[in-house]
Amino acid sequence: MNDPGNRSKRPDTPAGELVTDWSTEAIVARRDRYYAASQRKFVPYDTPLIFKKGRGQYLWDETDRRYIDLLGMNVCISAGHAHPAIVAAATSQIEQLTHCTTMFYHPVPAHYAEELAATMPAGHDWVVHFTNSGAEAIDLALMMARSATGEDNMLALRTSYHGATYGAQSMTGISGFRHNVNQLGGVSFVPEPNAYRGIFGDNVEAYLDEVDAAILASTSGRLAGMLIEPVQGYGGIVEMPQGYIAGAFERVRAAGGLCIIDEVQSGVGRTGDSFWAFEEHNVVPDIVVMAKGIGNGIPLGAVVAKRDVAESMADKFLFHTYGANPVATAVGRAVLATLRSEGLQENARVVGAALKSRLLELKNKYPVIGDVRGKGLMLAIEMVKDRKTKEPDADTTARVFDRSRDEGLVLSKSGPHRSVLRMVPPLCLSLNDVDVVAEGLDRCFALERS
Ligand SMILES: Cc1ncc(COP(=O)(O)O)c(C=O)c1O
Repeated sequence: MNDPGNRSKRPDTPAGELVTDWSTEAIVARRDRYYAASQRKFVPYDTPLIFKKGRGQYLWDETDRRYIDLLGMNVCISAGHAHPAIVAAATSQIEQLTHCTTMFYHPVPAHYAEELAATMPAGHDWVVHFTNSGAEAIDLALMMARSATGEDNMLALRTSYHGATYGAQSMTGISGFRHNVNQLGGVSFVPEPNAYRGIFGDNVEAYLDEVDAAILASTSGRLAGMLIEPVQGYGGIVEMPQGYIAGAFERVRAAGGLCIIDEVQSGVGRTGDSFWAFEEHNVVPDIVVMAKGIGNGIPLGAVVAKRDVAESMADKFLFHTYGANPVATAVGRAVLATLRSEGLQENARVVGAALKSRLLELKNKYPVIGDVRGKGLMLAIEMVKDRKTKEPDADTTARVFDRSRDEGLVLSKSGPHRSVLRMVPPLCLSLNDVDVVAEGLDRCFALERS
């Protein structure tokens, strides 16, 4: 179907009467026809999966089949799909005033800035710049670090992911996300301290020596900063080991650089033990980047920085048209309140531990599972052809992934070798869901043996 637009159904009518064609063929054909190649590419299944509705941790396709959303729509859904309190906050603000440009004053974004600043380590003066996405916030953090230090050199980690814009992509250490264009200069990559398959295993000091070596060999000796995800997301759920972030930050500060944490995936209580994952590492960053889960599905990002760092950009304004939008920030406030009132960080800790122990049982049963890792509701299983050589097994990963859909599970294939199944569901996942997930995955792996 080359022209999916059913012209007789394309009315010149008010928005309330717009027709949406829900037939599978038309949905697929229209998207294939009108999306640019760059946005068309990112589809996980051969047969398209169409979603119509979400509630809590569940999704429904267009035939009303229910799925557990273990992907949380790419880690965006923190408090649950269509959470009534969050929908109410958005609706009420959208009815009052849908946008208020930052040239004027509105109380909601400022309240939210105050509430976000309060989540940061005490004893520092935090300020907030709102954006619409994670990559935009990463770009701003990069610019801020360079502006505040007057230096250019940045360190980033291999197997990191920080976003799709020019700046964020240049800081991303996975080739699959780096387009074949001239990336921004001044970024050096250091080995990721991945205890399972990193080049130095779990030897934290050896990875820190590589930070020293990179500063010595690939920079002027002076740094603008270093960017770290406390738990790498698209890298395949790689937790920074204890001592690494603190050690790296010490070296970065000695070279005059700023310490930047990317909490876009790991934040808002997902890891269970703390609200921001960096808090588990006894460090105080200079800049924290956040997005995804803070908006529970509404486009919202933020850079939270120490005042003196942010102040370096005071002589010119930086205008994100929709940054500090009252609807998005009303949602942000409702998300924070809901996470607290429903104890969702604690739920992530408890339910995540239960899910991890079920995944470890699967590892005992199926040799193809080389590693189970992560914490809270940020978990992964990695498939290998051989547990000794740890050769990544992308084929088994793809088959298990395809079958998990038939079990009513939405997962994600991840990692630089596409050999990792990542689980990052809404933080309201229940213990009952854990049974469904574990039993479904068990059947998917059992079919590998038959
Ligand atoms: C860790 C991390 N940082 C930054 C980003 C970029 O966020 P966005 O896609 O909202 O631009 C992502 C997106 O997946 C991410 O996972």
